[in-house]
This record gives sequence, C-alpha cells and structure tokens, in this order.
Amino acid sequence: IPVDPFDLVIFGATGDLARRKILPALFKRYCAGQMEPGARVIGAARSELSQEEFRNLVRESVEEFTPERARRPGMLAGFLDCLSYLPVDARGSSGWPELAAMMTGDRVRAFYFSVGPSLFGDLARRIREYGMVTEQTRIVVEKPFGHDLDSARALNATLAEHFDESVIYRIDHYLGKETVQNLMVVRFGNMLFEPLWNSQYVDHIQITVAETVGVGGRGDYYERAGAMRDMVQNHLMQLLCLIAMEPPAKFDPDAVRDEKLKVIRALDAVKPHHIVRGQYVADPTQPQLGQGYREEVGNPRSSTESYIALKAHISNWRWAGTPFYLRTGKRLVARSSVINVRFKDAPHSIFGAEAGQHSNVLSIRLQPNEGITLQVTIKEPGPGGMRLVDVPLDMSFAEALGPDGRDTADAYERLIMDVIRGNQTLFMRGDEVEAAWAWTDPVIAGWQSLGDVPKPYTIGSTGPLDADLLMRRDERRWRGINP
Ligand code: BG6
Repeated sequence: IPVDPFDLVIFGATGDLARRKILPALFKRYCAGQMEPGARVIGAARSELSQEEFRNLVRESVEEFTPERARRPGMLAGFLDCLSYLPVDARGSSGWPELAAMMTGDRVRAFYFSVGPSLFGDLARRIREYGMVTEQTRIVVEKPFGHDLDSARALNATLAEHFDESVIYRIDHYLGKETVQNLMVVRFGNMLFEPLWNSQYVDHIQITVAETVGVGGRGDYYERAGAMRDMVQNHLMQLLCLIAMEPPAKFDPDAVRDEKLKVIRALDAVKPHHIVRGQYVADPTQPQLGQGYREEVGNPRSSTESYIALKAHISNWRWAGTPFYLRTGKRLVARSSVINVRFKDAPHSIFGAEAGQHSNVLSIRLQPNEGITLQVTIKEPGPGGMRLVDVPLDMSFAEALGPDGRDTADAYERLIMDVIRGNQTLFMRGDEVEAAWAWTDPVIAGWQSLGDVPKPYTIGSTGPLDADLLMRRDERRWRGINP
C-alpha cells in the first residue's frame, strides 16, 4: 500500500544502525514502491559530509546489505535522489536553522533518534525550539531505552516534556519480525489453541533466542549491558508478553499494549537460584572459532553474562503454576529463536506404562526456517502391539505460502512504515518499558549482591551445563537448539 510522501530525518545517519538497518530497509521500501515521489530522507549527524559523500555512504550500505535490489536498473539512483545530508550539532545550534527551513508543508515528519540516549533530550528540545513540531510530527527512539528503571523513567520524562506519548515510537525490532506478529495470529486467529492455552493444559513454555554471533565491536556497550539488559528486558520480554497475554478486544495500539503491560506487572520476582548466567570461552581444540568473551571485550575479569537462562512465573489466573523458561546467549551452536509450548501429559495412558511418556509440543520457529511444528503422538506402524511414537506435524511458512512466505521483510521495513502510517501497535509504550525494567532491576541486583560469576560455556555449545540442571531439577529438559 503506498503511503503519502513524508520527511524522515535520521539523526545519527552515519552510524552503524543506520548503515546496517535503517537505510537498507528504506531502500527496500523504495523498491517496493512505498516511497512516493517527493518523499525525503534527510541524514543528519555531526560529521561535515558533502551530499556526495553521504550518498556514497548510503550506496555502499545498500550494496552491502541488499545487493540484489541494488543491481536493479535505476533503483539505487532513484533512491539516492530522495536523500540529502545536513551536518547538525545535537548539543549546539549549528545545522538547526537549515533543518527547520527544509521542513515545510503538511506532511508526516518523522525524527529518528538513531543516537545514544544521552542525546534524546537535546534533540527533542531543539526540534521543538526550532518550530518543527506539527500535528504530523513523530519521534522514533531506539534501544537501549535506559539502563535501569530510574534511567528509563528519566528518559520518558525528558521525552514527555516535549512530546505526547501518542507520537513517541520506541522500537523493539523483535516486534517488527513477521513471525513475532504471527504469534498473535496463531493464538487469536485460530480456535484450536486458545482453549488449551493456560496452566490447566500447558506444562511449561520455553522461549529460546540463540545466536551464533559474539559481541563483536560492541564490547563497550555490552560490558555494561550483558544479556539480561541487551536481550531479556526487551526482546524476550516482548515474546513472553505475546505468548502469555489475554486476547485484546481489538488489534489496536493501546488494547494490545494494555494486555502486554498486565503480563509484565504479573511477573513474580525471579529467585536467584532460578537464574543461570554464562560467558563464552574459546574452544582450545578449535581456536579458529574465535576468542572467548573476556578476550573479545579486553577485560580479563569481566563478569558480564553473554548467556542467561531463567525461570519466570506469571501470577495470574491463566498462568499460575506454569513456568516460563527463558534463555538467550551469544556464540551458541546455532542461530535459532523458538518458542516451545509443552502441553501436559494425557491424564491417563490407556496403552500402559510400556507405551512410554508422550506429549504434545507446539513449536513456533521465529527465525530462521520460520514455521510451526506440532508434535503429536501416533501409533508406531507394525504388528508389534501398541507402541507409540511422537511425530511432527511440520509447517514451514516458506513452503506453505510460496514466495510470499519466503520474502519475510526485515523488521525495520515494517516498523519504519508503521511510524509513517502512524500505527503504534508494534512499539513499546513508556509504561511498558518501565514495568519491564522494574522486573529486571531486582534480578540484576540479586546476582550482584551474591557476587555471581558467570559459568563458562564453550563457543559452539548449547550454553552452560547449569542451564540444563535448572531444567533437570524440575524434571524437564530444553528442546534442542537446531538451525
Ligand atoms: C539486538 C541486540 O537488539 O538484537 C544484539 O543488541 C542482538 O545483541 C540482536 O544480536 C539480535 O537481533 P536479531 O534480529 O539478529 O535476532
């Protein structure tokens, strides 16, 4: 669906996020015909770049991240025509009058803060001071949205001085993933699952976000964050909300976010012995796989976790008694984000004890190989009596939907277009972010007061052994991490 021409100003346009995600996503939307003639993308940053230099940066980024589309005749040139660059000093006054002069007409003006949170306040103030705020103004901010509850509150308060909540778009890019949105459709578009979706029928739920990448060049940031702040407080929390929330009355921003917020507020404090933190170490037999975490960040005594597994409980009518096991880590054996809903065993086995224990598991694969598998129990073929076996009813979106299923748009494409369209459903509301920090802070404080040191796990493994023990103590086990 085409959208009306808009102005998008990217602060931090020469930064890594713009290069890897925002600009390639915009280019893909351009190729899809969603940037009408007249749409403008204005890059702003401190560097004194010429228009030519900025366009070259964008060209390189697009060629690197969307090589196929970049080769389509005319596309790249047409996209570059929509771009311009302005050196702007977030903390000073240079560049602002020029930017304000460019913002004319009654069209959507989105200001994307692709910069560190310490600049949010300055940017917000100047946008207002220089008279760039209209009914159509929108503010987009990136994570990390705060470091803890206090800093998140302060950020919310700063933004609130200048803008109404209804124009603030806080990005959690997991919400823009096609399959994450699908969680809501699977749950609320089908009659089949929802009646069973509660503690009476669900034994437990596992949420795994496994990565093969390490911290790379982001050591400084990551050392201060760790997996809890980097992944659990936001991405895993959002997945947990979508899996656990009550059906909203309609698919509109506040209805959905109200329900998510109720889940976060119903989370119990996590007990210290229900948390396992890990840190990757090099595999001495395979040094080519790379350095351990401490070497990578250059801190031989680092106690930052690159892996975390924990057991969470939601104290509400639907979920009391059903544990949610969350785990995420870097440099694991495979890149795999999966949610497994393990149903309870049948109350009585009419096939006798020898038939063994069997259970239904609904696995929702978020990435890669997006799809859904339902493990069902059937009779093992053959004349040897009633032997039971669990088999998968397997569906991959790519196979089921053909080319459309395969063309999963990048999360940023969806989210940026939602900003332009003015749809906040897939963005975090301020109170939601604060509630997530309110749950996160005591977890971190707990292990800090105990002086917890992360358990080592080898690069390419499934994480520390203690994470398996966390499950085993409950007579459960993690499902495999498969690519
Ligand atoms: C980011 C984290 O928010 O999400 C990164 O800061 C992480 O550490 C990334 O690697 C994972 O995103 P994706 O889309 O690759 O699963």
